[in-house]
Amino acid sequence: MNITFFNSKAYDQQFFTEANRDYEHQLKFLEVPLNEHTAVLAKGSEAVCIFVNDLANAPVLHLLKEAGIKLIALRCAGYNNVDLKAAAELGLKVVRVPAYSPYAVAEHTLALILALNRKTHRAYNRVREGNFALNGLMGFDLHGRTVGIIGLGKIGLVTARILKGFGCRVLGYDIRNNEEAIQIGIEFTDLDSVYAHSDIISLHCPLTPQTYHLINEEAIGKMKAGVMLINTSRGAIIDTQAVIKGLKSEKIKYLGLDVYEEEGDLFFEDLSNKVIQDDVFMRLLSFNNVLITGHQAFFTTDALQSIAHVTLQNITDFEQGNDLTNEVLP
Ligand SMILES: NC(=O)c1ccc[n+]([C@@H]2O[C@H](COP(=O)([O-])OP(=O)(O)OC[C@H]3O[C@@H](n4cnc5c(N)ncnc54)[C@H](O)[C@@H]3O)[C@@H](O)[C@H]2O)c1
Repeated sequence: MNITFFNSKAYDQQFFTEANRDYEHQLKFLEVPLNEHTAVLAKGSEAVCIFVNDLANAPVLHLLKEAGIKLIALRCAGYNNVDLKAAAELGLKVVRVPAYSPYAVAEHTLALILALNRKTHRAYNRVREGNFALNGLMGFDLHGRTVGIIGLGKIGLVTARILKGFGCRVLGYDIRNNEEAIQIGIEFTDLDSVYAHSDIISLHCPLTPQTYHLINEEAIGKMKAGVMLINTSRGAIIDTQAVIKGLKSEKIKYLGLDVYEEEGDLFFEDLSNKVIQDDVFMRLLSFNNVLITGHQAFFTTDALQSIAHVTLQNITDFEQGNDLTNEVLP
């Protein structure tokens, strides 16, 4: 099948080209993001392959349909950037990669927690400058601390297992019961209890209308003073302005983000020679207890191999009329 890739980087080209030896699709790699101006570039393909910040709203889907596209293949787990209702009305199928490596994202979550706690991001710079003073670098033992996990799916569960290994008490909140979580000793509770009792709160639920700005002023008000907040899920689950207020009042003592609600204009690009126009993002960067990575939690060789294979298999299944096990329905 002819597939146009939007927003593709050198690593996408490498991993998809290698995986495609088993599938033999025709791959066209474009660096531009998918939007109303670029959708027409998919002409000649039957499928488009898109990533987290490509825009697949109703007008874009109309243009893709006109260009002859039949399948939208997401090379990621989240699908909040696709108007699923519009896709269904246009007869466009949508597939995704529901699980590639929960370990990649869970381990990055731990990297943020550990770096923020022990301030390794600051220590790295100090030591390079010959400053071996320890003031300001004091951390706390993770052992015995309470961590609240919101969203106990694949990634939340792996994160909880790792934290259990550190000797943490793990509280969990999810809209669904999860037997596996209970078996490994996660204490299921309600959101208010997660907020009230957690020293660290880590977000692992998808971005949906229900989770949009879940972490707002009211939620922050219910949290323990000095809480550490970690988001490796989707940026808009956090109301960034409310979190900035929380950082200024020192209610939030540490913030670790791999995602940001306006990341579409920033992440995955080298903007080091440009003036960044996003004042809210720049305010976040001004706090020394905020650690931000640019949506890299998924970025391991294991995950990229898995993403490429599952995506190409999804497309082969569509081409051959097989059941679409990874279809996303409205
Ligand atoms: N930073 C990255 O690189 C990266 C990579 C992969 C996934 N993600 C994000 O991580 C999220 C979780 O991934 P996953 O594979 O664990 O998904 P999953 O579907 O296995 O788990 C999500 C869990 O969230 C729960 N949930 C849904 N709505 C909720 C709500 N309102 N409140 C509490 N819980 C709710 C679900 O019941 C489910 O158990 C994805 O949706 C995606 O946005 C980020």
